[in-house]
Amino acid sequence: MGVEGLDLTGLRRVYGQFGSRWFYTRVARNARHWGWTEPGQSKWRLWRAQRQLQDVLGRKLALSAGARVLDAGCGAGVVARAMAVRFGLRVTGVDVLDFHLAEAKRLSARARMGERTVFRWGDYHRLPFGDGEFDGVYSMETLVHSPDPSRALAEFHRVLRPGGRLVLLGPISVGPLGELEPRARALIESFLEAMTMTGAVIYHAGNLPRLLGEAGFEVEEALDATPYYTPTFEAVHAYFRLPWEVVRRFGDPAKWINLRSTVEMYGVREHVAWYVHTAVKPSR
Ligand SMILES: C[S@@+](CC[C@H](N)C(=O)[O-])C[C@H]1O[C@@H](n2cnc3c(N)ncnc32)[C@H](O)[C@@H]1O
Repeated sequence: MGVEGLDLTGLRRVYGQFGSRWFYTRVARNARHWGWTEPGQSKWRLWRAQRQLQDVLGRKLALSAGARVLDAGCGAGVVARAMAVRFGLRVTGVDVLDFHLAEAKRLSARARMGERTVFRWGDYHRLPFGDGEFDGVYSMETLVHSPDPSRALAEFHRVLRPGGRLVLLGPISVGPLGELEPRARALIESFLEAMTMTGAVIYHAGNLPRLLGEAGFEVEEALDATPYYTPTFEAVHAYFRLPWEVVRRFGDPAKWINLRSTVEMYGVREHVAWYVHTAVKPSR
């Protein structure tokens, strides 16, 4: 399944290989996102941190029960189900990877949530929905993969009703990669290329609010949430540093790109932030 201008080879490699599938299903219980830890909480409780991050999303969406929400890049639908169960939202998830959508549908059917969470194939640069169909749109760690973030933001704006709300969560470079010293830049660029994080080369904490504005949004908040994400980052790094060394020396590193990414990303952590951007499509 291809889309004009969208090459799925990299995404299939990142999410389809054995190591990723194993990691996401066994370790992350099908969630494909980081976690949020409050000050004073233990950093080792990764599933709690993931639940708390989902709760942050639900609170930032700030929509009433029954509101229609688009999950742009839904993965296996963990976030969609959390929004439906904990916030009463009616969620439509789109993704470009057929095996993620199959998982999302299977898990929602198993949880008897097939009516409150609907999943279909869709590229967020070219959404299969009419204008103003949604009260809210969110992207949980997916915009990083976009080769054209401005186009994705324009699509989010189009499918939102006036007054609709957008929440973007995810890792982001602190500033333009071109301004980094060469060693850090080379490390980050090789990591972003391996992970098909094309969007992260284009937008960063300094320019995303401007891109949102150009797409027609009013930015309500650009929250630097790095202190809340750092405990998960540290815990994941501590868990996977040694396994990655073993794989690197004795195994097949190409099959364990996620292990590599968590370890390498830690090495350039001073250049990486996590943000929660909340924006509104102005009412006419
Ligand atoms: C890091 S995963 C996050 C999945 C989910 N949001 C979660 O938190 O569990 C990124 C997801 O974005 C999807 N994705 C990447 N580019 C996309 C696009 N252009 N349109 C829709 N989904 C996309 C990937 O297939 C993948 O499922």
